Amino acid sequence: MKKIEKKLQIAVFGASGYAGGELLRLLHLHPEVAVTLVTSEKSAGKPVDSVFPHLTAYNQMAFERIDFTSGQADRADLFFLALPHKTAQKTAAFLFNKGKCVIDLSADFRLRNPAVYEKWYQTPHTERAILKKTVYGLPELYRSKIRRAKLVANPGCYPTGAVLGLIPALRKSLVEPENLVIDSKSGVSGAGRAGRQELIFSEISGGFKAYSLAVHRHTPEIEQEISAVSGRDITLDFTPHLVPMNRGILTTIYARLTDTKMTLKEIHTVYRRAYAKEPFVKVLPLGQYPSTKNVQGTNFCHVGLQVNPRTDRLLVVTAIDNLTKGAAGQALQNMNIMMGYEEMTGINSMAVFP
Ligand SMILES: NC(=O)c1ccc[n+]([C@@H]2O[C@H](COP(=O)([O-])OP(=O)(O)OC[C@H]3O[C@@H](n4cnc5c(N)ncnc54)[C@H](OP(=O)(O)O)[C@@H]3O)[C@@H](O)[C@H]2O)c1
Repeated sequence: MKKIEKKLQIAVFGASGYAGGELLRLLHLHPEVAVTLVTSEKSAGKPVDSVFPHLTAYNQMAFERIDFTSGQADRADLFFLALPHKTAQKTAAFLFNKGKCVIDLSADFRLRNPAVYEKWYQTPHTERAILKKTVYGLPELYRSKIRRAKLVANPGCYPTGAVLGLIPALRKSLVEPENLVIDSKSGVSGAGRAGRQELIFSEISGGFKAYSLAVHRHTPEIEQEISAVSGRDITLDFTPHLVPMNRGILTTIYARLTDTKMTLKEIHTVYRRAYAKEPFVKVLPLGQYPSTKNVQGTNFCHVGLQVNPRTDRLLVVTAIDNLTKGAAGQALQNMNIMMGYEEMTGINSMAVFP
């Protein structure tokens, strides 16, 4: 008789938001898991497909309020938290202390130094003991630690595209880690589903703009990981832009070469080798540059390279989907690693095109 394997039970907190909705879409495609609990405060009691009509498979499931007095912690093995930062801290701590696996998509556990978190997020970090046990969930850097982790801090969307664009060059000291300039353009879903005047269609469409210059909260997160790879404390310039599209982040990185005799072909070979075994990072052939369209709805990060011999700079361009490799897809990749599933399970889709 065929052995019936029990599926891993999954809860998605903040399932009515953009990242939570994308998690539900992807989890439905995963053969090893079953979603058993979804939360929303504002839409509690409503069926999932009344909030997300495209998620037809969830028509029998309704959102619930977060309420640990009702035994919610016992209703899943692994909890995805797609909640706003500050809100995730106590929820993650409670579940972690109950022995549950937690993947937190918010910024609450990404910064290893709580003082840096408190400075940039202007709020106390109340869960410092648990912060120490958290693993930063960028598989391309921390895969072996993620395998053993109970609490994973899923990286921010901008940091994912920026850090993946720099790892090979920094590891091989091809560029100076000082004086890096990182310029990113994001689709509007990066700001979440809660409406704000500056995010409505008439404000966004027909133009695009930079925002949070020199103060964006993803700056310390990028600096933390660039410093870890470089082995020294790095400060850098990061400028985000909001473009009139729904999803996607295109990042352009400007880095000064350490050896100006190094050719583009040699640098390209370094990148190709560094990512040869990475299932979700694709270094494009020379002369091709990434487009957000080619990664839409996928967990891929595309990387393109050029050298400017007039300025002795390496130019790196990366493209990700902010909701997939930048959030829900990477969260599932982390789940696959934590649970010992094949890493691409449920997230091996190609882009929707055009
Ligand atoms: N959007 C992205 O591209 C992206 C990428 C990487 C990481 N993230 C991170 O992922 C998290 C979710 O982002 P998002 O873009 O999905 O945001 P969102 O669309 O605004 O969704 C937020 C979710 O959290 C719930 N929520 C809000 N306040 C709450 C509270 N006080 N208590 C309990 N639940 C609450 C909302 O439920 P209601 O139905 O009650 O409003 C909703 O389900 C954030 O921490 C964000 O920084 C987002």
